[in-house]
Amino acid sequence: MTDSHSPPAPPLDGPPSATAERSATDLTPEFRRGAPDGATHEALDFNQETTCFELRNLNLHYGREHALRDITMTIPHRRITAFIGPSGCGKSSLLRCLNRMNDLIDIARLTGDVRLDGQSIYDKSVDVPELRRRVGMVFQKPNPFPKSIYENVAYGLRIQGIRRRSVIDETVERSLRKAALWDEVKDRLKSPAVELSGGQQQRLIIARAIAIEPEVILLDEPCSALDPIATAKVEELMMELKQHYTLVIVTHNMQQAARVGDYCAFMYMGELIEYDTAETMFQRPGKQQTEDYITGRFG
Ligand SMILES: Nc1ncnc2c1ncn2[C@@H]1O[C@H](COP(=O)(O)OP(=O)(O)OP(=O)(O)O)[C@@H](O)[C@H]1O
Ligand SMILES: [Mg+2]
Repeated sequence: MTDSHSPPAPPLDGPPSATAERSATDLTPEFRRGAPDGATHEALDFNQETTCFELRNLNLHYGREHALRDITMTIPHRRITAFIGPSGCGKSSLLRCLNRMNDLIDIARLTGDVRLDGQSIYDKSVDVPELRRRVGMVFQKPNPFPKSIYENVAYGLRIQGIRRRSVIDETVERSLRKAALWDEVKDRLKSPAVELSGGQQQRLIIARAIAIEPEVILLDEPCSALDPIATAKVEELMMELKQHYTLVIVTHNMQQAARVGDYCAFMYMGELIEYDTAETMFQRPGKQQTEDYITGRFG
């Protein structure tokens, strides 16, 4: 079981910077414009959360490249935690450490630990396919299989050996409803999934992830290939899904991180620079580097 009072975001290396006291009024006009219109966040507090993932001194090397540097943090249950940072800073690498997708990269070497609900996911006894069922992943580019809409969602069930038609039908419908796609596809379930629009395909992928009843969904830039309308639908869906699932999202879209993120982590060159509620990160960032990034001054 997890402790109900997980530690707050860990202190970062070095003394608090002089910018830590910066107030919202000091922020540039561009930044204030960038803040989400009227977005209201419930008062969030790390101390009130239960811990889903705990990363302890996580380091990742690809050969000689040190891609993640001593990352220690907790990711709470049933919230949306958004990772931001410039290209190459290690966001996707970190996400892949959460369901051991890095195992598939020969030169990747990891030290430290990642715990899910208190259990190390890198322990020898861990059933990795089962871990990946619990921690599903949605990528930047929707990647439906060359099968029907129905079969895409049913896929994970078939792999698990589930054969009963009624069970599969019911799961397909429930997953498509949860992914806010049912009404758009219910009359063409047998059509090829590739005929759907990009935004519909991305929701189909989310339905496929949901069908096998994960606990966590990792989303790596899920909206970067989508237009604003499809993006809004996927964002709405993420807000719905966090009632039942823990969501961890990588995004280059600051507005998106501010709109949907409950917590936000800023990474730079493999390090976790700042981690706080999204509200604090976007209204009163504690570090100059974070502010420079979210106001578009670098990156
Ligand atoms: N499969 C891999 N093999 C070798 N090096 C890799 C691999 N994947 C990532 N890297 C390196 O690790 C570092 C972090 O990459 P990563 O893809 O995690 O960054 P990112 O923050 O997701 O970037 P982007 O925003 O461009 O997607 C980069 O220097 C990258 O070159
Ligand atoms: Mg990436």
